[in-house]
Amino acid sequence: MELAAAQALWEPDTVYLNTASYGLPPRPSFEALSAALDDWRHGRTSWEIWGDSTEESRGSFAGLVGADVEDVAIGATVSDFTGMVASSLPDGARVLAPDMEFTSNLFPYFTQSDRGVTVETVPAGRLAEAMGPSTTAVAFSVVQSSSGEVADLEAVEKAAAEHDVLTVVDATQGCGWLPLEASRFDFLVVHGYKWLMSPRGTAFLYVNPALRDRIRPASAGWYAGEDVHSSYYGPPLRLAESARRFDRSPAWFSWVGTKPSLELIASVGVEAIHEHNLRLANLFREEMQLEPSNSAIVSIEAEDASTQLERSGIQAASRAGNLRVSFHIYNTDEDVAALLKALGR
Ligand SMILES: Cc1ncc(COP(=O)(O)O)c(C=O)c1O
Repeated sequence: MELAAAQALWEPDTVYLNTASYGLPPRPSFEALSAALDDWRHGRTSWEIWGDSTEESRGSFAGLVGADVEDVAIGATVSDFTGMVASSLPDGARVLAPDMEFTSNLFPYFTQSDRGVTVETVPAGRLAEAMGPSTTAVAFSVVQSSSGEVADLEAVEKAAAEHDVLTVVDATQGCGWLPLEASRFDFLVVHGYKWLMSPRGTAFLYVNPALRDRIRPASAGWYAGEDVHSSYYGPPLRLAESARRFDRSPAWFSWVGTKPSLELIASVGVEAIHEHNLRLANLFREEMQLEPSNSAIVSIEAEDASTQLERSGIQAASRAGNLRVSFHIYNTDEDVAALLKALGR
């Protein structure tokens, strides 16, 4: 579907420039979720039909990041998955991370300190040079949540390969607008409620298949079984061979709302979304006398501006003392004009 045609599927009442906080659902997602809630309320179906959305979403996500579906696990939050990876690192592991990293890919490593796991933080742009032979893992976001800074993936990937460092990548602020190949990394985790425009509670984890046996599936339940529907009761442990062994039991309704959003992203294409988002972000930057950048998130110094903007019907965020605006598929040139006007430009 052409991006311009797809834009008719959103109905924001505001100038919505806050996808980095949460994305807006396209009409098919909202309608699917509403219908499922209605069926739930009136007891019209069995639950399996809601569960099917989980598997279809897993397949769509695999396609989105060029991964084999066998290497994708599903869950509900980033921190749950990074926590599993952190607790599987060896005793005494040394983890490197950006100093302003979103804590869901940072705190889990600190919680391992009783086993001698240590965390070193450096500015996001210095990760590659800070890696060395003693680094066990580098944990970082593809796009920084507060600043919008896009990681130099080539440099980090090269340094990690050189020093044999595990890469634990949080693509929550990138996946959906930034073209990404999951297999470049060991772990790639994404929460769907921002740029994948899904309800909160649907997350994905890509796991390098060579590392599958080094990660403890500590939260395995019935859904992590090789055959889900014969895994409800009793021993023995019968885990899935694939990355499904890392699955958490699905939050049905969130997955019902996720499936159509992922299908729509695939239909429009991440390349087209990338081009659109960067064009709007750079249009705004140009008017603000800022150099063009490679990010759909723009962070500028403007204390308390988000409250001022809200009065003009503009949704944005304040992060680390800055105004943060983010541009996604449903935003338009008119949104940029409204933002500039509200900022007195
Ligand atoms: C980069 C990043 N990762 C993860 C999250 C959410 O983490 P969790 O799924 O643990 O709530 C956010 C939310 O703002 C984020 O910006």
